[in-house]
Amino acid sequence: MDAAITSKMQKHYPVLLKEIISIISPQYGGTFIDCTFGQGGYTKKILEFDKTKVIALDRDPKSEKVALMLQKKFEDRFRFKNIKFSHLNNLKLKNEDVRGVIFDLGYSYTQIKDPSKGLSFDSVGKLNMQLGLNSFSAEAAINKLDQKELEKIFKYFGDEKEGKYIAQNILKERIKKIIDTQDLVKIIDNTKRRKNFRIHNSTKSFQALRIFVNKEISELIFGLINAAKILKKDGVLAVVTFHSLEDKIVKYFLKSLSENKSISRYTPLTEQTDTLFHLTKKKPITPNEEELSENPPSRSAKLRFAIKKTDFFDFETHIEDQFKNLIDIEKFGDKL
Ligand SMILES: C[S@@+](CC[C@H](N)C(=O)[O-])C[C@H]1O[C@@H](n2cnc3c(N)ncnc32)[C@H](O)[C@@H]1O
Repeated sequence: MDAAITSKMQKHYPVLLKEIISIISPQYGGTFIDCTFGQGGYTKKILEFDKTKVIALDRDPKSEKVALMLQKKFEDRFRFKNIKFSHLNNLKLKNEDVRGVIFDLGYSYTQIKDPSKGLSFDSVGKLNMQLGLNSFSAEAAINKLDQKELEKIFKYFGDEKEGKYIAQNILKERIKKIIDTQDLVKIIDNTKRRKNFRIHNSTKSFQALRIFVNKEISELIFGLINAAKILKKDGVLAVVTFHSLEDKIVKYFLKSLSENKSISRYTPLTEQTDTLFHLTKKKPITPNEEELSENPPSRSAKLRFAIKKTDFFDFETHIEDQFKNLIDIEKFGDKL
């Protein structure tokens, strides 16, 4: 989401809500896993259908407040866990008919407005950017990683063309003092030669740092793998992304498990191995004009989904190899 525009809004809008509901069909009942509960926008809508049950997750412990209210109202139809969605496979689901697993990636309006999280470049004080259940903060990353590592984070997670010079200047400044949020904004402002008047100078670098601090690439990859395992036959995997890196990962995952490119079209049908997913739409769904005018930050949202064709879950995916260079960059955080 674009922080600058989000901060002018007054509440969190569940993005592409109508489209999500129409794809997962809660009117037929079943258990739905809301992997990114946030303020409960999707969960509340699903629970309006009385044969449903929702298991909601969020890494931010502050989500628990909304969850407690839903718990009181819906009792055994709702359960909340403060865990990261990469650990989806640890849920006890033996008796659950999992009809849908939903991800609405990134952060909520409530989180960007929370000064203690330091996600916005208007924040003052210590660099943070931890969404919850993290092992290090943006302050540790900016003040301890070496120049090459910082450069790679800005380049690969933010597509920041001037990442090399930003990293150079961070190293010069941090000899004098510990860099806080406003110091970093100033360093980026003073470094950037190519001004882009459509976005804030810090947008790309802040996105890069947030992805790094929250290990968003490995979270997404392992979240998708585990979601594919727990879904039942005919269940839907639906993912809303907000930037091209996330969308690339989701697109690769769904596409690679929905077709079998290695099979020659001359191979007899009986010898073709079946695929895990049915992909009804190759192109992502994006917000309509009405949603865009009501909620401008939704303009970067893309929804992709696929339907699981079998209960069998022992599938092979090359997604970890495909995005190994990005996972390796996240590993710079292991020493912090
Ligand atoms: C865009 S908000 C979701 C908003 C929600 N759909 C709603 O309608 O209120 C994303 C949420 O996902 C959570 N989140 C991000 N990464 C996560 C992860 N790896 N595991 C669990 N929760 C995560 C964030 O803390 C945030 O609350």
